[in-house]
Amino acid sequence: MAVLVSGGAGFIGSHTCVELLNSGEEVVVFDNLSNSKRSVIDRIEEITGKKVKFYQADMLDKEALRNIFKENDIESVIHFAGLKAVGESVCYPMKYFENNIYGTINLCQVMEEFGCKRMVFSSSATVYGMRNQSPLSEEMPLSVTNPYGRTKLVIEDMMRDLCFADKEWSVMLLRYFNPIGAHKSGLIGEDPNGIPNNLLPNVVNAAIGKTDKLKVFGNDYDTPDGSCVRDYIHVVDLAVGHISALKKIREMKGADAINLGTGCGYSVYEIINAFEKESGVKVPYETVGRRSGDVAECYSDPSKAARELGWKAQFGISEMCRDLWNYVTKTLNK
Ligand code: NAD
Ligand code: UD1
Repeated sequence: MAVLVSGGAGFIGSHTCVELLNSGEEVVVFDNLSNSKRSVIDRIEEITGKKVKFYQADMLDKEALRNIFKENDIESVIHFAGLKAVGESVCYPMKYFENNIYGTINLCQVMEEFGCKRMVFSSSATVYGMRNQSPLSEEMPLSVTNPYGRTKLVIEDMMRDLCFADKEWSVMLLRYFNPIGAHKSGLIGEDPNGIPNNLLPNVVNAAIGKTDKLKVFGNDYDTPDGSCVRDYIHVVDLAVGHISALKKIREMKGADAINLGTGCGYSVYEIINAFEKESGVKVPYETVGRRSGDVAECYSDPSKAARELGWKAQFGISEMCRDLWNYVTKTLNK
């Protein structure tokens, strides 16, 4: 019996594969490598000393998915595969709806064909929209402001409807806050194709001279230092949360949504300081205007995860920056 990891060569998927293998699970990965590299799979095997069965496959290709289920005894799916660049989704909404939503429909239909009805899905704090006040908790009203976010909300709703219609399904919708950091081996981490959107890849690029300066988007928010506050979470903590969620879907039926965050907020300037301290490298930056769509503060109420999954984030901001820098010097910037 194996766990199928869609998008398992990506940032969060690769770290989750390591934790799955370390906890004794058999792992099958498929990824179309649109935002990742084949070498990540070798690195997962190097870290764990265990084998991963890998398929380069696209979830839009239903026959390819069927083939994976034919060749393996899949009992649960952890579904990371998806496009995730907010700005790109605004320019190319149909690309996002097709890939993320249609891809998920294909995956669910093939799962049903093979009698596999357990899924952990990568949702996002983006489903809380702009109107809720942090700390954000699971029962708050949901809304979205861009096509990427809409794909997450549509898939959440789709999975709730599926579980309502067929009581054999169990689905955990994990709402991630801001994953950063890297595995302590320094062998895997975040390595996005193209120009990054998120803060830490841009901090790294400024630190290693790949870009002139980091742009800090706004210092006039109603926050202690004027820059935006986010709930950064170590990607290994996030990965471990998936092991707890997997155990949960093996016991429960129906759909449930749970935040994976630390409950602590850090500002952009605090992140720059923490990164400089851990790396010993200055981050050149300039403060520019606000980025449209940003909220001043976004951090989680993590109590449901503690209650329902027995999970709590272990690492702090210095460990996140330390492990990120270790990955940059050991692997990314080689
Ligand atoms: P990532 O881009 O590193 O990983 C996603 C993987 O999915 C990539 O390896 C990509 O090649 C693959 N993929 C995309 N479309 C595919 C398709 N049609 N068929 C097969 N593979 C496909 O991203 P990540 O940061 O690891 O995020 C994983 C999931 O978590 C995504 O669904 C993302 O939306 C969600 N999420 C991420 C964050 C974040 O800040 N990183 C926050 C909230 C939610
Ligand atoms: C962004 C997305 C969100 C998505 C999440 C994870 C937007 C509006 N939101 O959230 O939907 O779920 O990523 O992929 O894009 N910052 C800078 N300079 C930079 C980059 C970011 O100052 O070069 C600031 C941002 O203004 C923000 C903070 O850093 O205040 C974190 O930004 P980011 O990493 O993009 O995450 P979110 O904005 O939380």
